[in-house]
Amino acid sequence: MDKILVLDFGGQYDQLIARRVREQHVYAKIVPYNKINIDEILKEDYKGIIFTGGPNSVYADNAPRYDKKILDLNIPILGICYGAQLLSYLSGGKVEKGEDSREYGKILFNHSGSVLFEDVPESSICWMSHSDYISEVPEGFIITAYSDKCPCTALEDNKRKLYGVQFHPEVRHTEYGSKIISNFLFNACQIRPDWQMDDFIEKSVMQYSEQLKGQKVLLALSGGVDSSVAALLLHKAIGHDLICVFVDHGLLRKDEADFIEKTFRERFDLNLIRVDAKKRFLNKLKGVKDPEEKRKIIGNEFIRVFEEEASKIKDIDYLAQGTIYPDVIESGKGDSATIKSHHNVGGLPKKISFKEIIEPLRELFKDEVRQVGIRLDLPADLVYRQPFPGPGLAVRIIGEITEEKIKLLQEADAIFRKEVMDENINKPQQYFAVLTDLRTVGVMGDERTYGYTLALRAVSTDDFMTAEWSRLPYELLERVSNRITNEVEGISRVVYDITSKPPGTIEWE
Ligand code: XMP
Repeated sequence: MDKILVLDFGGQYDQLIARRVREQHVYAKIVPYNKINIDEILKEDYKGIIFTGGPNSVYADNAPRYDKKILDLNIPILGICYGAQLLSYLSGGKVEKGEDSREYGKILFNHSGSVLFEDVPESSICWMSHSDYISEVPEGFIITAYSDKCPCTALEDNKRKLYGVQFHPEVRHTEYGSKIISNFLFNACQIRPDWQMDDFIEKSVMQYSEQLKGQKVLLALSGGVDSSVAALLLHKAIGHDLICVFVDHGLLRKDEADFIEKTFRERFDLNLIRVDAKKRFLNKLKGVKDPEEKRKIIGNEFIRVFEEEASKIKDIDYLAQGTIYPDVIESGKGDSATIKSHHNVGGLPKKISFKEIIEPLRELFKDEVRQVGIRLDLPADLVYRQPFPGPGLAVRIIGEITEEKIKLLQEADAIFRKEVMDENINKPQQYFAVLTDLRTVGVMGDERTYGYTLALRAVSTDDFMTAEWSRLPYELLERVSNRITNEVEGISRVVYDITSKPPGTIEWE
């Protein structure tokens, strides 16, 4: 398979660059600049290299640089932002600190023709974020684009297939960013678009059915999209030799545990062990109010239950998990088989002995995992599931957790989610209910009530790092409030959370 190396110089959009390349059905691998040398690049037979952006100035003492022999490998290079400055610097050009020429945001630029700008209008908008600029282009290079403040918005040495752009083509605000990336891939690198999810499934199934033949593989299934897709893929390869353990800690949403079991056992015929551990978790959580302590307890208990189940099954050879590419990059920048903390609740058991960890999705981005899920017939409810914290409803019940409170929250949350789902609006990326610890007075008929206050939370977000509270229609909120106070005995007041992130977080705990 043809592939592109994304050489990471510390830019904030590295993953985005790799995703944009993969959207064009070309496999891209992100490697930090100091984790790969020239020989390794050659050995891997990359068809093109992209230098990412980065926060440094090329002249800074600690600036990430690279051996300039990389320019002579006969592999096309595209430098982006800092990457363009580095390309220029390594080739003998000059970069300067530009106090006045700082450009940030959407900028109009003009180009004068290049393989990189094929089918891109002469003037269009790009996204800039730089203060240093290329003040002298290196020998052999020409300027191919400029903007008001940046005389060298793009440069190239087309003979050696070296290209640099001062802006960020990977960011959606750059109108023709995808086209520019595709021009680099297909015009400059002449690469074949052979990264397809169907092939990925076929290859993975073939590989694992050979590698794991006759061996037992254990997987902790949570019902989240990653572990579900990993399970289906391995099931296709080794059938019932894959043993999935689903720990029901009793803190899932209404009917969710049954839905997960039904889906995987009946529809997909997975070898599934459902462990009903509700009582255990509740006992452990008795009297605990502190959110971090709740998380810790759930994490530890999860491991214990999983370990106990695993020890009942003899001779497990492998442990499988749904690690995905961003996890790999984050945990050690492409290094190793670090164990992903399951459910974010504190790591996997150390006591179970197994030969190796299997991570069938470790090359995939989330959207690619979803595509695989769809191709493997995973129900849309699971493929497009909202993020759901590992500790589950425990962090959506403020204060002590009791069986009664879990029930109240499950019912109220189900009503809210159903009403939002049925409403003809752009759906918020995450919406759920939170049971506060506050009880207030109300009236019901002639009776005075004293029930809990329930908070509704809905946010729109791209990345869950920042989020905007959703402007849900009043009529919808009114309907939800009426239904909840009428149908869920024990809740007498409903409030709507209008805090964005920051300063708030999405979850309440
Ligand atoms: P916050 O509340 O930090 O959440 O704004 C950002 C995103 O992360 C999810 N979240 C969690 N996911 N374990 C998880 O697996 C957790 O402990 C956890 N806490 C928050 C949250 O739902 C949101 O999507």
